[in-house]
Amino acid sequence: MLGIKYFPQNLSTKDKKIIVRVDLNVPLSDKKIQDATRIELALPFLQELIKKKSKIILISHLGRPEGKRNSALSLLPVYKYLKEQLNTNMYFYTGEINDELKEKSSYLKEGEVLLIENIRFFKEENQNDEIFSKKLGELAEIYVNNAFSCSHRKQSSIHGITKFVKEIYAGPLLKKEITAIDSVIKNKKDPVTCIIGGSKISTKINIISNLVKSTSNIVIVGAMANNFLAYKKFEVGKSLKEENSKDIIKKILVEAEKNECKIIIPEDCLVSKSFKGEPISKDIRSLEKDDIILDIGPRTVKIIEEIINNSNTVMWNGPAGYFENKNFAIGTNAIAKKISENTINKSLISVLGGGDTVTAINKSGYELFFTHLSTAGGAFLEYLEGKDLPGLSVLK
Ligand code: 3PG
Ligand code: MG
Repeated sequence: MLGIKYFPQNLSTKDKKIIVRVDLNVPLSDKKIQDATRIELALPFLQELIKKKSKIILISHLGRPEGKRNSALSLLPVYKYLKEQLNTNMYFYTGEINDELKEKSSYLKEGEVLLIENIRFFKEENQNDEIFSKKLGELAEIYVNNAFSCSHRKQSSIHGITKFVKEIYAGPLLKKEITAIDSVIKNKKDPVTCIIGGSKISTKINIISNLVKSTSNIVIVGAMANNFLAYKKFEVGKSLKEENSKDIIKKILVEAEKNECKIIIPEDCLVSKSFKGEPISKDIRSLEKDDIILDIGPRTVKIIEEIINNSNTVMWNGPAGYFENKNFAIGTNAIAKKISENTINKSLISVLGGGDTVTAINKSGYELFFTHLSTAGGAFLEYLEGKDLPGLSVLK
Protein backbone atom coordinates (compact mmCIF):
# COMPACT_ATOMS: atom_id res chain seq x y z
CA MET A 1 0.00 0.00 0.00
CA LEU A 2 1.34 3.37 -1.01
CA GLY A 3 1.95 6.32 1.24
CA ILE A 4 2.21 4.64 4.60
CA LYS A 5 4.80 6.14 6.93
CA TYR A 6 7.01 3.36 8.20
CA PHE A 7 9.09 3.46 11.35
CA PRO A 8 12.55 4.60 10.18
CA GLN A 9 15.13 2.03 11.21
CA ASN A 10 17.66 4.69 12.07
CA LEU A 11 15.24 6.75 14.20
CA SER A 12 16.72 7.50 17.59
CA THR A 13 14.14 6.75 20.28
CA LYS A 14 16.51 6.90 23.21
CA ASP A 15 14.73 8.10 26.32
CA LYS A 16 11.51 8.65 24.36
CA LYS A 17 8.14 7.24 25.36
CA ILE A 18 6.71 5.16 22.60
CA ILE A 19 3.32 3.46 22.39
CA VAL A 20 3.27 0.24 20.41
CA ARG A 21 -0.11 -1.21 19.42
CA VAL A 22 0.48 -4.92 19.14
CA ASP A 23 -1.85 -7.84 18.54
CA LEU A 24 -1.38 -10.13 21.52
CA ASN A 25 -4.82 -11.65 20.98
CA VAL A 26 -3.73 -15.27 21.40
CA PRO A 27 -5.99 -18.26 22.05
CA LEU A 28 -6.26 -19.05 25.77
CA SER A 29 -7.72 -22.04 27.51
CA ASP A 30 -7.97 -21.89 31.32
CA LYS A 31 -5.71 -18.83 31.17
CA LYS A 32 -3.02 -20.85 29.37
CA ILE A 33 -1.66 -19.71 26.01
CA GLN A 34 -2.53 -22.27 23.33
CA ASP A 35 -0.48 -20.74 20.54
CA ALA A 36 2.07 -17.96 21.00
CA THR A 37 2.67 -17.13 17.33
CA ARG A 38 1.36 -13.57 17.59
CA ILE A 39 3.49 -12.83 20.67
CA GLU A 40 6.58 -14.33 19.06
CA LEU A 41 6.07 -12.17 15.98
CA ALA A 42 5.72 -9.05 18.11
CA LEU A 43 9.02 -9.68 19.94
CA PRO A 44 11.71 -8.56 17.44
CA PHE A 45 10.48 -4.96 17.24
CA LEU A 46 10.18 -4.74 21.01
CA GLN A 47 13.71 -6.09 21.39
CA GLU A 48 14.91 -3.48 18.90
CA LEU A 49 13.22 -0.69 20.88
CA ILE A 50 14.65 -1.96 24.15
CA LYS A 51 18.10 -1.95 22.60
CA LYS A 52 17.47 1.62 21.48
CA LYS A 53 16.68 2.51 25.10
CA SER A 54 13.11 3.60 24.43
CA LYS A 55 10.44 3.63 27.12
CA ILE A 56 7.78 1.30 25.80
CA ILE A 57 4.05 1.34 26.47
CA LEU A 58 2.28 -1.67 24.99
CA ILE A 59 -1.40 -1.75 24.07
CA SER A 60 -3.32 -4.84 22.96
CA HIS A 61 -6.75 -6.38 23.14
CA LEU A 62 -7.64 -9.97 23.87
CA GLY A 63 -10.93 -11.44 22.70
CA ARG A 64 -14.10 -9.39 22.73
CA PRO A 65 -14.94 -8.42 26.31
CA GLU A 66 -17.36 -5.72 25.07
CA GLY A 67 -16.20 -2.95 27.40
CA LYS A 68 -16.36 -4.97 30.61
CA ARG A 69 -13.61 -6.40 32.79
CA ASN A 70 -13.48 -10.16 32.43
CA SER A 71 -10.74 -12.12 34.18
CA ALA A 72 -10.86 -14.89 31.57
CA LEU A 73 -9.70 -12.32 29.01
CA SER A 74 -6.97 -10.74 31.09
CA LEU A 75 -3.60 -10.20 29.42
CA LEU A 76 -1.86 -11.47 32.57
CA PRO A 77 -0.73 -14.80 31.00
CA VAL A 78 0.57 -12.84 28.01
CA TYR A 79 2.39 -10.42 30.33
CA LYS A 80 4.10 -13.35 32.07
CA TYR A 81 5.12 -14.86 28.74
CA LEU A 82 6.48 -11.55 27.46
CA LYS A 83 8.34 -10.87 30.69
CA GLU A 84 10.21 -14.15 30.26
CA GLN A 85 11.18 -13.31 26.70
CA LEU A 86 12.15 -9.66 27.10
CA ASN A 87 15.24 -9.22 29.14
CA THR A 88 14.18 -6.02 30.90
CA ASN A 89 11.98 -4.64 33.66
CA MET A 90 8.39 -5.06 32.65
CA TYR A 91 5.24 -3.81 34.37
CA PHE A 92 1.55 -4.69 34.05
CA TYR A 93 -0.94 -1.86 34.47
CA THR A 94 -4.45 -2.93 35.47
CA GLY A 95 -5.96 0.43 36.47
CA GLU A 96 -8.01 3.01 34.60
CA ILE A 97 -6.79 5.11 31.69
CA ASN A 98 -6.15 8.24 33.77
CA ASP A 99 -3.52 10.37 35.48
CA GLU A 100 -2.27 7.37 37.44
CA LEU A 101 -1.32 5.68 34.17
CA LYS A 102 0.31 8.87 32.95
CA GLU A 103 2.34 9.06 36.13
CA LYS A 104 3.37 5.39 36.00
CA SER A 105 4.43 5.79 32.36
CA SER A 106 6.54 8.80 33.30
CA TYR A 107 8.49 6.65 35.78
CA LEU A 108 9.58 4.25 33.01
CA LYS A 109 13.34 4.07 32.65
CA GLU A 110 15.23 3.54 29.41
CA GLY A 111 14.52 0.12 27.92
CA GLU A 112 11.63 -0.66 30.28
CA VAL A 113 8.20 -1.87 29.20
CA LEU A 114 4.71 -1.26 30.56
CA LEU A 115 1.84 -3.40 29.29
CA ILE A 116 -1.66 -2.01 29.72
CA GLU A 117 -4.37 -4.57 30.59
CA ASN A 118 -6.77 -5.59 27.78
CA ILE A 119 -7.76 -2.30 26.17
CA ARG A 120 -11.20 -3.67 25.28
CA PHE A 121 -12.07 -3.76 29.00
CA PHE A 122 -12.89 -0.09 28.33
CA LYS A 123 -16.04 0.53 26.32
CA GLU A 124 -14.52 3.70 24.90
CA GLU A 125 -11.99 1.65 22.93
CA ASN A 126 -14.59 0.10 20.64
CA GLN A 127 -16.40 3.45 20.37
CA ASN A 128 -13.21 5.12 19.14
CA ASP A 129 -14.01 7.71 21.82
CA GLU A 130 -12.25 11.03 21.36
CA ILE A 131 -11.43 11.74 25.03
CA PHE A 132 -10.23 8.20 25.61
CA SER A 133 -8.08 8.35 22.47
CA LYS A 134 -6.59 11.62 23.70
CA LYS A 135 -5.74 10.14 27.10
CA LEU A 136 -3.95 7.27 25.39
CA GLY A 137 -2.18 9.51 22.93
CA GLU A 138 -0.91 11.83 25.66
CA LEU A 139 1.10 8.99 27.19
CA ALA A 140 3.88 9.14 24.60
CA GLU A 141 5.76 11.12 21.96
CA ILE A 142 5.70 8.34 19.36
CA TYR A 143 2.98 5.87 18.33
CA VAL A 144 3.61 2.75 16.29
CA ASN A 145 0.91 0.47 14.92
CA ASN A 146 2.51 -2.94 14.55
CA ALA A 147 -0.82 -4.80 14.47
CA PHE A 148 -1.91 -5.24 10.88
CA SER A 149 -4.43 -7.84 12.11
CA CYS A 150 -6.34 -5.12 14.03
CA SER A 151 -6.12 -2.39 11.42
CA HIS A 152 -9.62 -3.04 10.05
CA ARG A 153 -11.03 -1.82 13.36
CA LYS A 154 -11.96 1.82 13.81
CA GLN A 155 -11.06 1.77 17.50
CA SER A 156 -9.23 4.16 19.82
CA SER A 157 -5.89 2.36 20.08
CA ILE A 158 -5.78 1.88 16.29
CA HIS A 159 -7.53 4.92 14.87
CA GLY A 160 -8.52 7.70 17.31
CA ILE A 161 -5.18 7.77 19.10
CA THR A 162 -3.27 8.84 15.98
CA LYS A 163 -4.77 12.32 16.21
CA PHE A 164 -3.12 12.88 19.56
CA VAL A 165 0.47 11.75 19.10
CA LYS A 166 3.02 13.87 17.27
CA GLU A 167 4.94 11.14 15.50
CA ILE A 168 3.05 8.13 14.15
CA TYR A 169 4.38 5.17 12.19
CA ALA A 170 3.58 1.70 10.95
CA GLY A 171 5.81 -0.92 12.52
CA PRO A 172 8.00 -3.49 10.76
CA LEU A 173 5.63 -6.44 11.28
CA LEU A 174 2.77 -4.46 9.76
CA LYS A 175 5.08 -3.57 6.89
CA LYS A 176 6.07 -7.19 6.36
CA GLU A 177 2.41 -8.26 6.26
CA ILE A 178 1.24 -5.73 3.70
CA THR A 179 4.33 -6.11 1.55
CA ALA A 180 3.72 -9.86 1.35
CA ILE A 181 0.00 -9.51 0.61
CA ASP A 182 0.65 -6.73 -1.95
CA SER A 183 3.10 -9.00 -3.73
CA VAL A 184 0.54 -11.82 -3.84
CA ILE A 185 -2.14 -9.49 -5.20
CA LYS A 186 0.28 -8.30 -7.87
CA ASN A 187 1.49 -11.75 -8.87
CA LYS A 188 -1.66 -13.78 -8.47
CA LYS A 189 -2.54 -16.11 -11.32
CA ASP A 190 -5.94 -17.39 -12.33
CA PRO A 191 -7.76 -19.50 -11.41
CA VAL A 192 -7.99 -18.01 -7.93
CA THR A 193 -9.70 -19.96 -5.19
CA CYS A 194 -10.76 -18.55 -1.85
CA ILE A 195 -11.43 -20.93 1.02
CA ILE A 196 -13.42 -19.34 3.81
CA GLY A 197 -14.23 -20.99 7.09
CA GLY A 198 -14.33 -20.25 10.77
CA SER A 199 -17.21 -19.14 12.89
CA LYS A 200 -17.21 -15.32 12.82
CA ILE A 201 -20.01 -15.43 10.30
CA SER A 202 -21.63 -12.04 9.98
CA THR A 203 -18.27 -10.29 9.65
CA LYS A 204 -17.20 -12.41 6.69
CA ILE A 205 -20.41 -12.74 4.76
CA ASN A 206 -20.07 -9.21 3.34
CA ILE A 207 -16.52 -9.93 2.31
CA ILE A 208 -17.62 -13.01 0.39
CA SER A 209 -20.15 -11.00 -1.57
CA ASN A 210 -17.27 -8.81 -2.75
CA LEU A 211 -14.80 -11.60 -3.42
CA VAL A 212 -17.11 -13.29 -5.94
CA LYS A 213 -16.11 -10.53 -8.36
CA SER A 214 -12.42 -11.44 -8.43
CA THR A 215 -12.22 -15.20 -7.80
CA SER A 216 -13.09 -18.35 -9.74
CA ASN A 217 -14.10 -20.47 -6.76
CA ILE A 218 -15.20 -19.76 -3.26
CA VAL A 219 -15.16 -22.77 -0.99
CA ILE A 220 -17.24 -22.35 2.13
CA VAL A 221 -16.33 -24.52 5.11
CA GLY A 222 -16.52 -24.42 8.92
CA ALA A 223 -19.53 -22.98 10.71
CA MET A 224 -19.86 -20.50 7.87
CA ALA A 225 -21.09 -23.33 5.63
CA ASN A 226 -23.97 -24.19 7.96
CA ASN A 227 -25.77 -21.02 6.90
CA PHE A 228 -25.54 -21.97 3.26
CA LEU A 229 -26.71 -25.51 4.04
CA ALA A 230 -29.67 -24.21 6.04
CA TYR A 231 -30.47 -21.80 3.20
CA LYS A 232 -30.58 -24.80 0.85
CA LYS A 233 -33.06 -26.38 3.30
CA PHE A 234 -30.76 -29.11 4.61
CA GLU A 235 -31.28 -30.14 8.23
CA VAL A 236 -28.29 -28.78 10.18
CA GLY A 237 -29.45 -29.95 13.62
CA LYS A 238 -27.83 -28.06 16.48
CA SER A 239 -24.94 -26.75 14.41
CA LEU A 240 -23.71 -23.18 14.93
CA LYS A 241 -25.50 -20.80 12.61
CA GLU A 242 -26.57 -17.22 12.38
CA GLU A 243 -30.16 -15.95 12.21
CA ASN A 244 -31.19 -13.61 9.42
CA SER A 245 -28.46 -14.57 6.99
CA LYS A 246 -30.90 -15.53 4.21
CA ASP A 247 -30.95 -12.26 2.32
CA ILE A 248 -27.19 -11.90 2.21
CA ILE A 249 -26.72 -15.51 1.10
CA LYS A 250 -29.24 -15.00 -1.66
CA LYS A 251 -27.33 -11.90 -2.74
CA ILE A 252 -24.03 -13.78 -2.71
CA LEU A 253 -25.42 -16.59 -4.84
CA VAL A 254 -26.93 -14.18 -7.38
CA GLU A 255 -23.70 -12.15 -7.60
CA ALA A 256 -21.62 -15.33 -7.86
CA GLU A 257 -23.64 -16.54 -10.82
CA LYS A 258 -23.39 -13.17 -12.54
CA ASN A 259 -19.61 -13.20 -12.12
CA GLU A 260 -19.18 -16.87 -12.99
CA CYS A 261 -17.73 -17.61 -9.59
CA LYS A 262 -18.45 -21.11 -8.29
CA ILE A 263 -19.59 -21.39 -4.68
CA ILE A 264 -18.74 -24.77 -3.21
CA ILE A 265 -20.37 -25.97 0.00
CA PRO A 266 -19.89 -29.31 1.82
CA GLU A 267 -21.58 -32.48 0.56
CA ASP A 268 -20.81 -34.51 3.62
CA CYS A 269 -19.61 -33.83 7.13
CA LEU A 270 -18.44 -35.20 10.46
CA VAL A 271 -21.06 -34.76 13.14
CA SER A 272 -21.36 -35.49 16.83
CA LYS A 273 -23.84 -34.89 19.62
CA SER A 274 -21.33 -32.68 21.46
CA PHE A 275 -18.16 -30.69 20.78
CA LYS A 276 -16.19 -33.21 22.83
CA GLY A 277 -17.72 -36.23 21.12
CA GLU A 278 -16.58 -38.84 18.64
CA PRO A 279 -17.00 -38.18 14.89
CA ILE A 280 -19.66 -39.82 12.73
CA SER A 281 -19.44 -39.33 8.97
CA LYS A 282 -22.74 -38.37 7.33
CA ASP A 283 -24.08 -37.24 4.00
CA ILE A 284 -25.39 -33.71 4.27
CA ARG A 285 -28.90 -35.01 3.54
CA SER A 286 -29.08 -37.33 6.52
CA LEU A 287 -28.53 -35.21 9.60
CA GLU A 288 -30.65 -35.61 12.71
CA LYS A 289 -32.12 -32.82 14.81
CA ASP A 290 -29.53 -33.18 17.56
CA ASP A 291 -26.46 -33.52 15.32
CA ILE A 292 -23.75 -30.86 15.38
CA ILE A 293 -21.63 -30.41 12.25
CA LEU A 294 -18.02 -30.24 13.43
CA ASP A 295 -15.93 -30.91 10.32
CA ILE A 296 -16.21 -31.49 6.59
CA GLY A 297 -16.50 -35.11 5.46
CA PRO A 298 -14.12 -37.22 3.30
CA ARG A 299 -15.99 -36.61 0.03
CA THR A 300 -15.85 -32.85 0.55
CA VAL A 301 -12.13 -33.09 1.37
CA LYS A 302 -11.56 -34.83 -1.99
CA ILE A 303 -13.54 -32.14 -3.84
CA ILE A 304 -11.55 -29.35 -2.20
CA GLU A 305 -8.22 -31.09 -2.93
CA GLU A 306 -9.24 -31.31 -6.56
CA ILE A 307 -10.11 -27.60 -6.64
CA ILE A 308 -6.73 -26.76 -5.10
CA ASN A 309 -5.04 -28.92 -7.77
CA ASN A 310 -6.80 -26.88 -10.44
CA SER A 311 -5.94 -23.47 -8.94
CA ASN A 312 -2.90 -21.28 -9.39
CA THR A 313 -3.65 -19.06 -6.40
CA VAL A 314 -5.32 -20.04 -3.14
CA MET A 315 -6.28 -17.73 -0.31
CA TRP A 316 -7.54 -19.31 2.87
CA ASN A 317 -9.04 -17.89 6.04
CA GLY A 318 -10.76 -19.86 8.78
CA PRO A 319 -10.56 -23.53 9.78
CA ALA A 320 -12.84 -26.17 8.21
CA GLY A 321 -13.96 -27.59 11.53
CA TYR A 322 -13.73 -27.60 15.29
CA PHE A 323 -9.98 -28.29 15.19
CA GLU A 324 -9.62 -27.81 18.95
CA ASN A 325 -10.87 -31.43 19.18
CA LYS A 326 -8.46 -33.44 17.03
CA ASN A 327 -11.35 -35.65 15.84
CA PHE A 328 -12.53 -32.65 13.87
CA ALA A 329 -9.20 -31.28 12.62
CA ILE A 330 -9.14 -33.75 9.73
CA GLY A 331 -10.58 -31.42 7.08
CA THR A 332 -8.44 -28.44 8.13
CA ASN A 333 -5.26 -30.55 8.17
CA ALA A 334 -6.02 -32.08 4.77
CA ILE A 335 -6.55 -28.65 3.19
CA ALA A 336 -3.35 -27.31 4.78
CA LYS A 337 -1.36 -30.30 3.56
CA LYS A 338 -2.67 -30.04 0.00
CA ILE A 339 -2.01 -26.29 -0.23
CA SER A 340 1.49 -26.76 1.15
CA GLU A 341 2.31 -29.63 -1.26
CA ASN A 342 1.16 -27.62 -4.26
CA THR A 343 3.03 -24.51 -3.08
CA ILE A 344 6.22 -26.58 -3.05
CA ASN A 345 5.67 -28.74 -6.13
CA LYS A 346 3.42 -26.78 -8.45
CA SER A 347 4.31 -23.14 -7.71
CA LEU A 348 0.88 -22.52 -6.27
CA ILE A 349 0.67 -19.02 -4.79
CA SER A 350 -0.83 -19.46 -1.32
CA VAL A 351 -1.78 -16.94 1.32
CA LEU A 352 -3.29 -18.01 4.58
CA GLY A 353 -4.56 -15.78 7.32
CA GLY A 354 -6.27 -15.63 10.67
CA GLY A 355 -5.54 -16.34 14.31
CA ASP A 356 -7.43 -19.64 14.33
CA THR A 357 -6.01 -20.73 10.99
CA VAL A 358 -2.45 -20.14 12.22
CA THR A 359 -3.22 -21.97 15.48
CA ALA A 360 -4.76 -24.91 13.59
CA ILE A 361 -1.73 -25.14 11.30
CA ASN A 362 0.72 -25.09 14.20
CA LYS A 363 -1.36 -27.73 15.96
CA SER A 364 -1.40 -30.06 12.95
CA GLY A 365 2.16 -31.13 13.68
CA TYR A 366 3.01 -31.14 9.97
CA GLU A 367 5.84 -29.18 8.48
CA LEU A 368 4.03 -26.93 6.04
CA PHE A 369 5.05 -24.28 3.56
CA PHE A 370 3.05 -21.35 2.15
CA THR A 371 3.82 -18.24 0.12
CA HIS A 372 2.63 -16.12 3.04
CA LEU A 373 1.10 -16.88 6.41
CA SER A 374 -0.64 -13.84 7.88
CA THR A 375 -1.52 -13.28 11.53
CA ALA A 376 -4.55 -11.36 10.34
CA GLY A 377 -7.98 -12.78 9.63
CA GLY A 378 -10.61 -10.11 9.08
CA ALA A 379 -8.02 -7.45 8.22
CA PHE A 380 -6.40 -9.77 5.70
CA LEU A 381 -9.71 -10.43 3.94
CA GLU A 382 -10.73 -6.77 3.90
CA TYR A 383 -7.31 -5.79 2.57
CA LEU A 384 -7.63 -8.40 -0.18
CA GLU A 385 -10.98 -6.89 -1.04
CA GLY A 386 -9.16 -3.63 -1.74
CA LYS A 387 -10.71 -1.72 1.15
CA ASP A 388 -8.98 1.24 2.73
CA LEU A 389 -8.57 -0.03 6.29
CA PRO A 390 -9.25 2.67 8.94
CA GLY A 391 -6.07 1.79 10.85
CA LEU A 392 -3.90 2.11 7.75
CA SER A 393 -5.36 5.27 6.27
CA VAL A 394 -4.38 7.19 9.43
CA LEU A 395 -0.75 6.11 8.99
CA LYS A 396 -0.35 7.93 5.70
C1 3PG B 1 -8.10 -11.11 15.15
O1 3PG B 1 -8.09 -12.04 15.95
O2 3PG B 1 -8.49 -11.22 13.99
C2 3PG B 1 -7.57 -9.77 15.61
O3 3PG B 1 -6.94 -9.86 16.85
C3 3PG B 1 -8.71 -8.78 15.64
O4 3PG B 1 -9.67 -9.19 16.55
P1 3PG B 1 -11.20 -8.76 16.35
O5 3PG B 1 -11.70 -9.51 15.13
O6 3PG B 1 -11.90 -9.17 17.61
O7 3PG B 1 -11.24 -7.27 16.12
MG1 MG C 1 -10.62 -11.22 13.42
